[in-house]
Amino acid sequence: MYIITTVLASAALAPLALAGNAVVENACADPVYLWSVGGSVGERQTVDPGTNYTEALHYDDISGGIAIKITRSEDGLYDGSPQTNFQYSLTDFLYYDLFDVYGDPFSGHTLVVNPSIDTCNKICWGEGIRATATSQTESCSTDANITLTLCADSC
Ligand SMILES: *[C@@H]1O[C@H](CO)[C@@H](O)[C@H](O)[C@H]1NC(C)=O
Ligand SMILES: *[C@@H]1O[C@H](CO)[C@@H](O)[C@H](O)[C@H]1NC(C)=O
Repeated sequence: MYIITTVLASAALAPLALAGNAVVENACADPVYLWSVGGSVGERQTVDPGTNYTEALHYDDISGGIAIKITRSEDGLYDGSPQTNFQYSLTDFLYYDLFDVYGDPFSGHTLVVNPSIDTCNKICWGEGIRATATSQTESCSTDANITLTLCADSC
């Protein structure tokens, strides 16, 4: 009886846990540094070559959206280094976007945002620089995982 109740309870809770992950995959030769920024700034994360940073997609009560700010220097968020911002907003849909400030840290390398659901659009910067003047906000269902690959092989 106890077991049956537990199984039913977790089945009922399951829909609340549908949101996917945001992943930053470092395929570059050097470490990158990132901060997940919503209403407050998260701790610096060092992502070594060949490893991933993963966070559960979430909504921030103060800022709404989240920006994962990525630099190639250790103190990059605070010293004005070029920054790639992998941004998302989780509401009834998942919105995601990529943009650079203070320069293009991955210029000459390929950046790809790949949603795990095939019908949602990728974002790809073949030369590490946004090719269009306007930002390209894409959307997907909230259970998708979105992976930004730094220094990807190709778009
Ligand atoms: C990093 O994430 C990508 C995409 O989800 C996955 O294919 C790869 O296996 C992950 N790498 C590691 C080291 O976990
Ligand atoms: C998202 O990633 C998790 C963990 O890797 C996996 O279990 C899940 O199936 C993925 N979701 C989709 C929609 O691809």
